[in-house]
Amino acid sequence: MNVVSIVGARPQFVKAFAVSRELRVDHEEVLLHTGQHYDEELSDVFFDELGIPEPDSNLGVGSGTHGRQTAAMIEGIEEVVESAGPDVVLLYGDTNSTLAGAIAASKMDPQVAHVEAGLRSYNRDMPEEINRVLTDHASDLLFAPSDSAAETLALEGITEGVHVPGDVMYDAILWARDVAVGRSDVLDRLGLAEGEFVLATVHRAGNTDDPDRLEAIVEGLSDAPLPVVLPIHPRTKHRLEEFDLWERATSALTIIDPVGYLDFVRLLDAAERVATDSGGVQKEAFFLDTRCVTMREETEWVETVECGWNVLVGADRAAIGEELSTTQDVGQKPTPYGDGTAAEEIVKILSERVAETSLSLSDD
Ligand code: UD1
Ligand code: UDP
Repeated sequence: MNVVSIVGARPQFVKAFAVSRELRVDHEEVLLHTGQHYDEELSDVFFDELGIPEPDSNLGVGSGTHGRQTAAMIEGIEEVVESAGPDVVLLYGDTNSTLAGAIAASKMDPQVAHVEAGLRSYNRDMPEEINRVLTDHASDLLFAPSDSAAETLALEGITEGVHVPGDVMYDAILWARDVAVGRSDVLDRLGLAEGEFVLATVHRAGNTDDPDRLEAIVEGLSDAPLPVVLPIHPRTKHRLEEFDLWERATSALTIIDPVGYLDFVRLLDAAERVATDSGGVQKEAFFLDTRCVTMREETEWVETVECGWNVLVGADRAAIGEELSTTQDVGQKPTPYGDGTAAEEIVKILSERVAETSLSLSDD
């Protein structure tokens, strides 16, 4: 089987790592990087640390408005898919790189497969929500991380090609958790002790691009009872500067450059709590038994909230401070995201589907 895998932004490198290492055992993969993320600490560091092979192609699209960025990707992806002639185009998550892959490939011959299908926030103001819905509706194979994600697809009339292999980020973290303890010295570098700090990340457009929300988040984090470490996404740094919040933020919080995956997993594992608006970090916190305070009004990862390990606080200063301080017990953790073998299952399903398709073609 030949597969073109499309990645472009930080969380996709982690997801592709988990699938690529299974895929490359018996199959051919062309790795296409759109260039959506290009800074060393948002891109190269993941390839180096995770041993992901260099992308076969990098479109170098860089940053831009949604339309310009997505359009440049569509054009480049079409060319690469045309020349590689794969059996499958594999898409991850909900970024503009995902959507561009879905638009380009769904009008071509290969099967289109979406890893992390069926997630919904039901907030159409999020660009990611549009990307998820459109990608799911353009895909032939849909890999849902949980039963509830598959049920969501069914509610939208998508029942064919839906599988529930579990979550590939769980596969990745099971590998990374122990490796990070051995390889990462981030706690020493930052002078942090296990269980005595809060880890924070903020990058969601709805938070960073609204000065009132961003200020409330900075103030809420500054109310935490422990020191707060914030590896800062470039988007957030730009906005803090633009809104004159940078000095306030750096005086209240320990702001550092974005860190690589192993350092991040080490920080998340050792943190007393995490405050985030990231999708991936909510799940990783859940996998690592770290309580999560999510600075959004809604989440796609509903199972983490239902059991009490994740709490939604929006950009409400008082609620952020309160939830970072609460000592109330949380419930038993369920296991909605599989058993850490999602990638293996995905590769098996893909190769069976490709074999069936080529059989039916040869019958015609
Ligand atoms: C993107 C995804 C988001 C995902 C996030 C992961 C979309 C619509 N958004 O958001 O779903 O959660 O990646 O981190 O696809 N920038 C740099 N260096 C880089 C990349 C970006 O400085 O290497 C800055 C630029 O100012 C850019 C801004 O960050 O304009 C936003 O980058 P972009 O890729 O458009 O969106 P993210 O916020 O990173
Ligand atoms: N991450 C990282 N370094 C950081 C922040 C995050 O390696 O400084 C990793 C994190 O472990 C997770 C992924 O990046 O695997 C999440 O990406 P992000 O929060 O940017 O995007 P989202 O998941 O919200 O789409």
